[in-house]
Amino acid sequence: MPDLYRSLLRPILFSGLNLDPEWLHQQTLQWLQWTDLEAPIALRQAILGQMQNIYGYADRRLSTQCFGCEFANPLGLSAGFDKDGQGAAVWPYFGFGFAELGTVTQHAQAGNPQPRLFRLVEDEAALNRMGFNNQGSQALADRLTQRSQQSDRPIQTMPIGINLGKSKITELEDAAGDYRESFRRLRELGQYFVINVSSPNTPGLRSLQSVEQLKPIFTALNEENVGRKPILVKIAPDLIDEDILAVVDLARACGLAGIIATNTTIRRDGLKTQVLARTGNPIADEAGGISGAPVRSRSTEVIRLIYRHTNGAFPIVGVGGIFNADDAWEKITAGASLLQVYTGWIYEGPAMVRQILSGLVDRLDAAGLDTLDQAVGLEFGSGRNRANEFTSTQTKSTFVDS
Ligand SMILES: Cc1cc2nc3c(=O)[nH]c(=O)nc-3n(C[C@H](O)[C@H](O)[C@H](O)COP(=O)(O)O)c2cc1C
Repeated sequence: MPDLYRSLLRPILFSGLNLDPEWLHQQTLQWLQWTDLEAPIALRQAILGQMQNIYGYADRRLSTQCFGCEFANPLGLSAGFDKDGQGAAVWPYFGFGFAELGTVTQHAQAGNPQPRLFRLVEDEAALNRMGFNNQGSQALADRLTQRSQQSDRPIQTMPIGINLGKSKITELEDAAGDYRESFRRLRELGQYFVINVSSPNTPGLRSLQSVEQLKPIFTALNEENVGRKPILVKIAPDLIDEDILAVVDLARACGLAGIIATNTTIRRDGLKTQVLARTGNPIADEAGGISGAPVRSRSTEVIRLIYRHTNGAFPIVGVGGIFNADDAWEKITAGASLLQVYTGWIYEGPAMVRQILSGLVDRLDAAGLDTLDQAVGLEFGSGRNRANEFTSTQTKSTFVDS
């Protein structure tokens, strides 16, 4: 089947109509929300059923268990795409094995001034400085609670992660309380949680990656974690290796469930784009984090570093520059148990998930392996996913089965 997104839609959306990427993003989310909640039931079923036929891909060799949750496949939607959970119920129909909502903060906030999201097409990348624009953790809790009660609009079960950040108005020394309050509001509504201390777009946030500052945050969430939900930490690719390993050691010592590697980078070297057309400024002068192809190899390097350091015993969610099955396989064999995508999905379109999943099955066949778990860390010769130390008492999905 011809890929209409890449051949027709993307040229129109990316350049023909010269649309603002953020506007387009909002329209997409609103359309998804409308389809899920407002479209007549028969139409909704027809659209979602069609999406599932086109984008879905099921193969039991891809299913995995990680930090106590069951995943039908290892490919998830990364944080930042659906900050307020507007599409929380529709992501399985795009073929994803899980979705991470957020980042949400304790207080609703508008984020940075627009424009704040740019495509660097020559680099297959994006630059964003959104600044955690979100409706706040209470609004997300209300939306997810309400959605889970709407049994007339059934949805597929899949793990939902919730990514937590610090509100801009909260002082850095009060960060632990901010994360804690969001977690308290949402802890029953997600299958896993992420402490995001790696966005470059909240002043000072990345300084929370130091062990001294992280510890009170981990402790606060542990105290609040009555249901023993898996809690992960998401790190920046720009940390030096020694600091990454310090975070990993602390996270393990505090009983965290895993690590997400990585967020966007503040580096600008090696980019083809020198001037941001939209603003006319040199790219080096534009604030924000770069995602997509430029972050790919560093993110894989970080996965490798953590896998080697922990001897494969600490679950790693690999994210950064995944566009195809080769990129995905590279991160899995470097040690990632799960994967996430954002920028690649924008560039390649919704058919990407299925292409990656079927490509992974082809690679399993070629390697003579039975399950994807056996490919985790294969580079190191182990090929056995031992990243299942964490067992949760709560593995039920947010939404009821359809
Ligand atoms: C527009 C945009 C917004 C993002 N917002 C968030 C966010 O709110 N929280 C977060 O943890 N990561 C956020 N990210 C980072 C992604 O989740 C991901 O870690 C990063 O983009 C690397 O993956 P990719 O190359 O597949 O995009 C954002 C990325 C983009 C492009």
